[in-house]
Amino acid sequence: MTDPGTPLDALPDDFLWGAATAAYQIEGAAGADGRAPSIWDTFAHTPGRVAGGDTGDTACDHYHRWPEDVALMGRIGLGAYRFSIAWPRVVPLADDRVNRAGLDFYDRLVDGLLAAGIRPFPTLYHWDLPQAQQDRGGWPARDTAERFAEYTAAVAARLGDRVTDWATLNEPLCSAWIGHLDGAMAPGLTDLTAAVHASYHLHLAHGLAVQVLRENVRDARIGIVNNLSPIEPATGSPADLAAAVRADGHVNRWWLDPIHGRGYPEDMQRVYGVELPERAGDLDLIAAPLDWLGLNYYFRQIVADDPAGPAPYIRQLPGPNPEHTAMPWEVHAPGLEQLLLRLTEEYDAERIYVTENGSAYADSVAADGSVHDPERTAFLADHLAACARAVGRGAPLAGYFAWSLLDNFEWAYGYAKRFGLVHVDYPTQRRTIKSSGHHYARLIAAHRGR
Ligand code: NOJ
Repeated sequence: MTDPGTPLDALPDDFLWGAATAAYQIEGAAGADGRAPSIWDTFAHTPGRVAGGDTGDTACDHYHRWPEDVALMGRIGLGAYRFSIAWPRVVPLADDRVNRAGLDFYDRLVDGLLAAGIRPFPTLYHWDLPQAQQDRGGWPARDTAERFAEYTAAVAARLGDRVTDWATLNEPLCSAWIGHLDGAMAPGLTDLTAAVHASYHLHLAHGLAVQVLRENVRDARIGIVNNLSPIEPATGSPADLAAAVRADGHVNRWWLDPIHGRGYPEDMQRVYGVELPERAGDLDLIAAPLDWLGLNYYFRQIVADDPAGPAPYIRQLPGPNPEHTAMPWEVHAPGLEQLLLRLTEEYDAERIYVTENGSAYADSVAADGSVHDPERTAFLADHLAACARAVGRGAPLAGYFAWSLLDNFEWAYGYAKRFGLVHVDYPTQRRTIKSSGHHYARLIAAHRGR
């Protein structure tokens, strides 16, 4: 009888097992060592913007507790850690001065990770634009892309001797569409022109940063992190089918085509009806060759036509699978396989990382001190199996980063939504590895030992 193998057998031997976080969601220490406010400090401190009035002022206090957190990564057996660098720590103010003390923190963290045998994967922008830069126009202004390149140069000069794996932007879709169109994230605008211009300047910032990293970091391996969703029409009606094409443009193609040298999708340019702030040479910069694509996957989208709504005139319907996380997002692991194959086949990806994937559930600490989260364990197992199926069908998937290492500040949802493999009791800052974290540790050990 042949060995049926485990669902993860297809993953390559050198598969990278990671977990991810982001600066504003875990660091706290909002005023420490010269850090100035970001748009998220402003947003979170505006009454009514974040559930429960929560802010990132203290968060997981990772700024001070990072050695304990690196030790936790070691206990889980992580081979890589994806974190973000806070621009407002590095270039806090409008005087554009580089704040050495802010960079010192990431210097210490990188050294700590390397000493523990964990590969650092910093992301340069995970939504915390310095407020001073917002005051100069924010992402709708070209200047922000140029300042981002300067900030990138400062980070590269400090960490580039030890860090080779870099992501420029995290989920620019959220910065542009949720921050400037839906208004549910900082800076909280609802302005289509601002949103389209922000999307363009985010891409430009990405392209400029790639150039800076190539020039300043030897053997840099550079990628960008996009959140994508498989799109399905709610019905077979021509209106819903057309809505699905628009949704795909809005959620996926707008973010993938320009970085692959295909320009901005023309159908979507017509839907938005906003002139792009394009200058000669920009599109080539935006399409600078990359070493890898980062995919953040959480859910698929079922969409219907919504002619009365704002552009792009689509309405999202609840997914049919009764299993939902606490967000409440539909659980649909096959969507991850589908997206990995799409990046492989339609965009000729040479190397992909799942840079985020995870689930929120209402976890609590039991009387014996343990945290039992079987739903998250099942979510993890099902999504890793989807990764392995995609690899079996040719996807060049090189690693997986669970979202998140720690429970943390879930943006407009505050601390109520827990995504961690590690539970954080905020009043005491006590960390407890959840049963899903132990499960992940066993998978990692089994894969390494096979
Ligand atoms: C994607 C974002 O990058 C991350 O910051 C967020 O917490 C997770 N999604 C979960 O919503």
